Formats: sequence, C-alpha cells, structure tokens
Amino acid sequence: MQPLTYWDHLRILAGTWGVLWVLFGLAAALAGAGILAGEARKPRERRSSERAAGGLLLIAGGLLWSYLQTLVPTRYAANPLRGLSAAEVSARAMPIYLEHCAACHGEKGRGDGPLAEFVTPRPADFGTHGWHHREGEHYWWITRGIPGTAMPSFASFLTEEERWLLARYVKQLGREARLP
Ligand code: HEC
Repeated sequence: MQPLTYWDHLRILAGTWGVLWVLFGLAAALAGAGILAGEARKPRERRSSERAAGGLLLIAGGLLWSYLQTLVPTRYAANPLRGLSAAEVSARAMPIYLEHCAACHGEKGRGDGPLAEFVTPRPADFGTHGWHHREGEHYWWITRGIPGTAMPSFASFLTEEERWLLARYVKQLGREARLP
C-alpha cells in the first residue's frame, strides 16, 4: 500500500469539518503571536515575562493541537452508511467481520480471538477500548492498519463501503459488550 504524505492527510482532512479544529489551533497560535508582538513593541521596562511566556505557550500549544488533528484525517468524516439501522449494519457486517477480524478481535469484539494471545500488543477489545473513538477513526485504522502492531491494512481487501460498515459494526460491538 502506498504511504500517504502529510499533504494527502491535509487534503483528506479538508473535506471534513475536522478542518475547523485545525483552524482553531492555528487561531490560538496566531493569538499567541499577537501577544508576543504586543510585548515586543512595549518599552523594555514595561514588558511582562508572564505574558510573553503565555504567548509562547499559545503558539506551541496551538500548533501542536493543529498537528495532532491531522494524524487521523478521517476522524470527523461522516459515515456514508449512517442511515442504516443497527440491525442492517449487523446483518451486513457480521459475515465480513467473522471472516477477516474475529480471529484476532474475537466474535463479539472482546479482543479474545484464537490468534489474540500470539500478538503484542493484544488486539483491541472494543468493549473497553474503542467506544470513545469516532467511526471515522475506526475507518482509518481499518483502512491503513496500525503500524507497529498486528493490525493489518484492509485497503486492498475490503471496499470503502465495507470498511465504513465495519467501522460502525465495531462501535456496535463495543456498545453491546458494555450492556449488563
Ligand atoms: C492479525 C490480528 C488482527 C486482525 C486480523 C485484525 N485486527 Fe484489528 N487490531 C489488531 C491489533 C493488534 C490492534 C491494535 C491494538 C493496539 O493498538 O493496542 C488492532 C486494532 C484495531 C482497531 C483500533 C481500535 C482502537 O480503539 O484502538 C480497530 C478499529 C480494529 N482493529 C478493527 C479491526 C477490524 C474491523 C478487522 C477486520 C477487518 C481487524 N481489526 C482485523 C489485530 C488485528
């Protein structure tokens, strides 16, 4: 699979409202730069090192924030299958899931498939982990895999629609796992 460049990430991100979070970070950085510039214009004896430090912190924090938003560029992408009911998702996703995912993640998504004990780190348990992630993030990991772990990329095995389907199914499995 082709590695994506940073610009590819930005292009993907630009199509989602995640781009607003990037702009938010940039605005904070800009505000920080404004504070610094304001301090620099003052006579030396009236400058405040606290305000300057605050400005620097805003710049660094804002830029870091924006950068982190770009790492999983589909985080805020809308699932094209969001109109499907949970029952429809289960019916369509389960056979794909059992074929490609259950060996590691387990039939119910509890991270306890037959291969689970052979991989480090262990496959994610969608009941305890994953429920707080957005479908767009699951879609990204299913598509690209997770480097440094056994989680493979499914970009060339599953269609885009199947990957979005699984992204929702993973959320549903997590929800079901947490029911008493
Ligand atoms: C060879 C074993 C293996 C297979 C097959 C596999 N996974 Fe994974 N998966 C992993 C491992 C290992 C992780 C990473 C856990 C970590 O980062 O701690 C992971 C992580 C994930 C995550 C991220 C969850 C999170 O919250 O961090 C998702 C989503 C996921 N897998 C979905 C799938 C789906 C859907 C399939 C089938 C299409 C699949 N996986 C197939 C091993 C596997």
